[in-house]
Amino acid sequence: MTIATINKPLPLLFSPLKLGELVLRNRIVVSPMCQYVSLDAGPTDYHMVHLGQFAMGGAGLIFCEETAVEDRGRKSYHCAGIYNRQQIPQYHRINDFLRQHGAIPGIQLGHGGRKSSATPPWEGYRSLTEADRPLGEAPWTTISSSPISASIHSAKPHELTTSEISQVITHWAEAAEHAAEAGYDVVEIHAAHGYLIHQFLSPLVNQRKDAYGKDLAGRMRFCLEIIEAIRKVWPARKPVFLRVSAVDGSGPAWTLEDTVRLAQEAKLRGIEVLTPSSGGIGGAGTATLVPRTPGYHVPFSKRVKAETSLKTIAVGLITQAQQAEHILQNNEADLIALAREFLWDPYWSVHAAKELGVDNFYDLLPRTYGWWLKRRDEIKTVTQTAATIDLAPPAL
Ligand SMILES: Cc1cc2nc3c(=O)[nH]c(=O)nc-3n(C[C@H](O)[C@H](O)[C@H](O)COP(=O)(O)O)c2cc1C
Repeated sequence: MTIATINKPLPLLFSPLKLGELVLRNRIVVSPMCQYVSLDAGPTDYHMVHLGQFAMGGAGLIFCEETAVEDRGRKSYHCAGIYNRQQIPQYHRINDFLRQHGAIPGIQLGHGGRKSSATPPWEGYRSLTEADRPLGEAPWTTISSSPISASIHSAKPHELTTSEISQVITHWAEAAEHAAEAGYDVVEIHAAHGYLIHQFLSPLVNQRKDAYGKDLAGRMRFCLEIIEAIRKVWPARKPVFLRVSAVDGSGPAWTLEDTVRLAQEAKLRGIEVLTPSSGGIGGAGTATLVPRTPGYHVPFSKRVKAETSLKTIAVGLITQAQQAEHILQNNEADLIALAREFLWDPYWSVHAAKELGVDNFYDLLPRTYGWWLKRRDEIKTVTQTAATIDLAPPAL
C-alpha cells in the first residue's frame, strides 16, 4: 500500500528512493547487526524472526549481519557466512519473507582478518586460545595485510602473499554470486571497523612495501579490486554499497580526506552508496576519535556526499523521527540507518511515520495488524460513554 499525506508533502523519510531499477519504499535502513547465533555459518529461525520483524514494521532496506566470504573471515564460530552453496536456500527463505512484506533485503559481506578467531562480545570478544580447543572452539590462524596482532592478547596474523590476496578477492566475488542467488538486492562491502579491508586501508596495520601497501594508492588497492571483482559478478541492475570507517580509532592515520579519495575511486568502479562509520582499528574494539553524540557520523556523510555526489547513509545514534527527517531535509544523507534503536523498537518505522504526520501510517504494517489497529482508533474516537464503548474484537 502506498503511504500518503493529504494536503502536505510526504516526509522525505517516507519518500521512495530509486537506486537503478530498485525502489526502496522509504529511506529507513536496518543497519547490519551481528547476532552471533548462526549455525555452521548459516541463518536459523532466529534470523527469520529477527529480520522479519523489521520488514513487518515497515523498514525500507534490511541488512542482515556482516556475513563472511570465507570461513577464516568469521569473527567467531557463531558468525554468519555465505561461502557454502548449501547456505544459499537458507538465506533465500528469509529474503522471500522480507520482500513479501515490502522490504528490500541487503547483505553485508565481510572478512574479519586479524580480528577473527574470537569469542562473541558477551564473552569478552577475546581471541580464542588453545584452552578453547577442548570446548570445541579451536583457534585458527587469522590473516591480514601485515603480521601485526589485533591486540596484545591475540596471535600474530599471517601476512597475505600477493597470490593469496588474489584468492581472497575471489572469495569475495564468489560470496557475491551466492548472495545474488540467495535473492539479495543490495550488497554492502564491509571495509570499516578494523576488519580485513580496513587492515589494508589503514597505515596503522598495513606496513607492506609491495603494490598493496606503501602509499594511499597501494593501501586502497585491495578494497578497489574487491569492488571490481564484485561488480563483475553482481547483477548490473543491483547496487553495491561500501561501508568505511571515515577516520581511524586512534589516528589520525586514516583521515576523512583519505575517505573522500577512496569514495571517488570506489564510485568510478561502480559503488552507488557509501556508509561512513568510524573506528575499530586501534585501541579497544570500537575506539574512535569521534564522540558518540546523536548523529555522530552525519558530518562525514555530508562531506562525502558533497564532494563525490555519491548517495550516503547516515548512521550512529539516530533515534528520533524528526532527527532523521532533518538530516534528509538538510541534504546530509540519502538514507537513514538505525541499529540499536531497532533492537528496542522493531516497529520504529511505523511509529516514525505516525510522528511525522503520514496519514495512513498503519499501511506500513501487514494488513492483518493494520486493519485491527485502525478499527481500534476509530472506536476510540467515537464519543460514547465508557460503558458502551465496544473495544472487543467482533465475533469471527
Ligand atoms: C548488535 C550490533 C551488531 C553490529 N554488527 C555490525 C555489523 O555486522 N556490521 C557493521 O558494519 N556494523 C555493525 N554494528 C554497528 C551498527 O551497524 C551501527 O553502525 C552502530 O551500532 C551505530 O548505530 P546505532 O547508534 O543506530 O546503533 C553493530 C551494532 C550492534 C549494536
